[in-house]
Amino acid sequence: MVGYVIYGRGSLQQLDEILAPHRLADAPMIFLVDHFFTEKSLLQKLPLRGKDKIILADVTYEPKTTQVDALAQSLKNEFGTISGIIGIGGGSTMDLAKAISLMMNNTGSAADYQGWDLVKKPGVYKVGIPTLSGTGAEVSRTTVLTGPTKKLGMNSDFTPFDQIVLDPALTANVPANQRFYTGMDCYIHCIESLQGTYLNEFSKSYGEKALQLCEHVFLEKKSWDEECDDQLMMASYAGGMSIAYSQVGVAHAVSYGLSYLLGTKHGIGNCIVMNHLHEYYPKGVDVFKCMVEKNNIEIPTHICKGLTDTQFDTMINISLGMKPLWENALGKDWEKIMTKEKLRALYEKL
Ligand SMILES: NC(=O)c1ccc[n+]([C@@H]2O[C@H](COP(=O)([O-])OP(=O)(O)OC[C@H]3O[C@@H](n4cnc5c(N)ncnc54)[C@H](O)[C@@H]3O)[C@@H](O)[C@H]2O)c1
Ligand SMILES: [Fe+2]
Repeated sequence: MVGYVIYGRGSLQQLDEILAPHRLADAPMIFLVDHFFTEKSLLQKLPLRGKDKIILADVTYEPKTTQVDALAQSLKNEFGTISGIIGIGGGSTMDLAKAISLMMNNTGSAADYQGWDLVKKPGVYKVGIPTLSGTGAEVSRTTVLTGPTKKLGMNSDFTPFDQIVLDPALTANVPANQRFYTGMDCYIHCIESLQGTYLNEFSKSYGEKALQLCEHVFLEKKSWDEECDDQLMMASYAGGMSIAYSQVGVAHAVSYGLSYLLGTKHGIGNCIVMNHLHEYYPKGVDVFKCMVEKNNIEIPTHICKGLTDTQFDTMINISLGMKPLWENALGKDWEKIMTKEKLRALYEKL
């Protein structure tokens, strides 16, 4: 779990104080900031000291192991060692920061650690500051990376942030579409966790709260306001806590295939899949459709049109490789339920 949590509007202002005890001699703190904030006032608010450096994270594409390796190597070349890394942005930037932290202290490539409990040593001190709510990357024990052969996280006890700063004011200017897609990632975490076979009281307690907050902001509120930003940030946190002790399910397993082959982004990919999952999550999908309508969102369709058999097979193999997700969703006998043919038919519908 994350060691320290601060929540509140304006809490970013406490960052200098938070970092101070973690500064090691003259080794710098690295601020890895989502490229959306290039030339934005946020950069002036960062408490730079000594050799501290701001790096703008290019998140045009979701994080790759090669990108992590290159960034970690350039920090080693420039500074030898660093005091810590602060990831400020959406799920992509936070995941990059977590992975770079780990690769500062582990040898080889990030690709060597894609899987469960493969990371050998703790990383450098790491802080997560979300500017977009929904992924739960701020609390999770994984960092999702696309590598040479798979899209899979570095899942380990060393992966969670040491500290997170939850300041909902940072999410004020997210475009409505992006806010919806990433927000739905959280909603889908809740549905998949609450309907999953891995469910337990720990996951349920967080999942139910997150679900209630998602439904409030995306269905019950008349218009988006500060309270919605406050609530969605807590929904993301609680949704992340819920899956931390259970698992995600069908939407994520299928969406990983899309993302690997077509580069479809996580939030929108989950929405594209969720639209067709009535058979697995009937009530969850009905409510999802109401949210899409209420928020005037267009979910893309026919994205798999014209793909070749080989391309379908690639997606199917990536997806079926996510065994814990399928087992959570469909139970121990999931392989009898979700056959290659059945999954192909589902991909064709997308
Ligand atoms: N580690 C985990 O547990 C976990 C869980 C779910 C998803 N993920 C990963 O998270 C990523 C998706 O994250 P995401 O949905 O947060 O999107 P993202 O981080 O990819 O960002 C999406 C877009 O929003 C922009 N953006 C970020 N903050 C903004 C702000 N305040 N105002 C305006 N624009 C802003 C970014 O520049 C980018 O263009 C994927 O790579 C996915 O694999 C990780
Ligand atoms: Fe997700």
